[in-house]
Amino acid sequence: MTTATSKTGAGKFIVRAFLVLIGLGVAFFLLLQLIPVNRSNPPMVSEPNWDSPATRDLAKRACFDCHSNETTWPWYSYVAPASWLIAHDVEEGRQRLNFSDWANVRGEARHSGELAESILEGKMPPASYLPTHPQAVLTNTEKQALVDGLRASLAQTDPGGAPVVDNGEENDD
Ligand code: HEC
Repeated sequence: MTTATSKTGAGKFIVRAFLVLIGLGVAFFLLLQLIPVNRSNPPMVSEPNWDSPATRDLAKRACFDCHSNETTWPWYSYVAPASWLIAHDVEEGRQRLNFSDWANVRGEARHSGELAESILEGKMPPASYLPTHPQAVLTNTEKQALVDGLRASLAQTDPGGAPVVDNGEENDD
């Protein structure tokens, strides 16, 4: 009898400890949601001189979520900790290459060769982004069209070549 009672006692204790842990987990998760996350879409400043609406459409489909001020923030970008990762990607992406603030894009990102490489080698858009964004998956024909379109757009945006970096602080992170 004594053994049975102590077993039940231990069982109750374990169930209680388990419930307390779940409660703490939920409380912690809710607290995380209070940390502010910057999901702003600042106004458009300047875009490259697009060679055609089709080029812009392709860039919008595959690049704008991280490289423009027209980010579509999905529902899970409102749930920490996913929200932190997404906001960080967008912040870093915009810093390097912002199609909505083209006048301030400096360094490699302003060269069509660098853009072409990132697309054709499959580095951009990042593979981890694609399963949740099927519209950003480009066929080989679309990739080539985007590369050619970006080349033409940048050639007419910077006829004398990309602007020279003045202070070498363009990639400060
Ligand atoms: C899910 C977000 C995301 C998408 C979508 C995305 N990028 Fe990026 N991109 C980043 C981040 C973050 C960086 C900076 C870190 C790195 O280089 O991986 C970056 C860096 C780059 C760079 C390097 C810039 C530099 O100065 O080193 C190029 C070029 C680039 N992206 C082009 C593109 C192009 C073109 C597309 C669309 C075909 C695209 N990216 C789509 C997030 C993204």
